[in-house]
Amino acid sequence: MRVVAVMNQKGGVGKTTTTCNLGAAFARRGLRVLLLDLDPQAHLSLHLNHDVNGGTPSIYEALVESLPIEQAIAPCSPERLSLVPAHIDLASAELELAGEIGRETILRNALADLAAHDRFDVVLIDCPPSLGLLSLNGLTAADEVVIPLQAEFFALHGISRLTDVMEKLRRRLKRGPQLLGIVLCRMQTTTRLAREVEEEARRHFGARVFKTTIRQNVRLAEASSHGQTVFDYDPASQGAKDYAALGDEIAALWGVAPGEVKAAAAVMARSARTKAAQSPPAVAAQEGARPPAHPGPAATN
Ligand SMILES: Nc1ncnc2c1ncn2[C@@H]1O[C@H](COP(=O)(O)OP(=O)(O)OP(=O)(O)O)[C@@H](O)[C@H]1O
Ligand SMILES: [Mg+2]
Repeated sequence: MRVVAVMNQKGGVGKTTTTCNLGAAFARRGLRVLLLDLDPQAHLSLHLNHDVNGGTPSIYEALVESLPIEQAIAPCSPERLSLVPAHIDLASAELELAGEIGRETILRNALADLAAHDRFDVVLIDCPPSLGLLSLNGLTAADEVVIPLQAEFFALHGISRLTDVMEKLRRRLKRGPQLLGIVLCRMQTTTRLAREVEEEARRHFGARVFKTTIRQNVRLAEASSHGQTVFDYDPASQGAKDYAALGDEIAALWGVAPGEVKAAAAVMARSARTKAAQSPPAVAAQEGARPPAHPGPAATN
């Protein structure tokens, strides 16, 4: 089971849209996908038409009340897609957990229990727009991180802070989080500003910026307000094509062939076994134990 956090502490850059539709793209390829809403705004849950006031368990109960995360999973309409929803209560979780020992690793431990049951190939975590305790839990639980970037002024501002936090976590933890890649979202390909931001991002982060960019497409915004993934709402749209292409690009990095459920499951299981076998015991020796997800210059500033 691969755990991928979708994170940028900047608001409105496309984290939730990417979590939802990239997850749906993976599910269409045959992967068993769990989407985890770690944002008190609960936008991902709403995007998937989940009744956030329905009284069903959410990530809050899993983090604060130690409910096994499996009991907070709600099925979604698209096949092979499941959701751990959020609730506005989650806003108080940071305060409630402030005094807990090991508060940054609660989600990581909860997901380790889930991994043992082999129900999912990929978990995508939609992080809130801050570098608080919830996001730290998301990053600590993640093997890899996708950073959505909106092509606008100050787009790269704050990214070095995020990559620094990831670097520190890599030093302290046995595994991850590695940068899987940066995806340019809400791209207005016709504007000079968008092209300049894209050039700057590629100059700075090299091959860590995905080749696929997610163009500005109103269908993506409409799909969320209809409580659907873009593939259900308008499978022929530019937005659906872009997220399918991003799914293909990431699957190629992972070595997952299109539509091969069994092969995908085998790759995931093999990768988990290799990871377990390669985990060295001492923290110092664990630094850089996992190679970068794909080549490119180190994200240092
Ligand atoms: N490619 C796109 N084209 C058009 N609209 C988009 C696109 N991506 C996202 N949006 C819209 O932009 C808004 C912000 O997107 P989204 O909620 O995914 O960002 P976010 O980073 O999760 O925000 P927050 O930081 O508040 O959690 C939403 O209304 C969404 O529908
Ligand atoms: Mg969001």
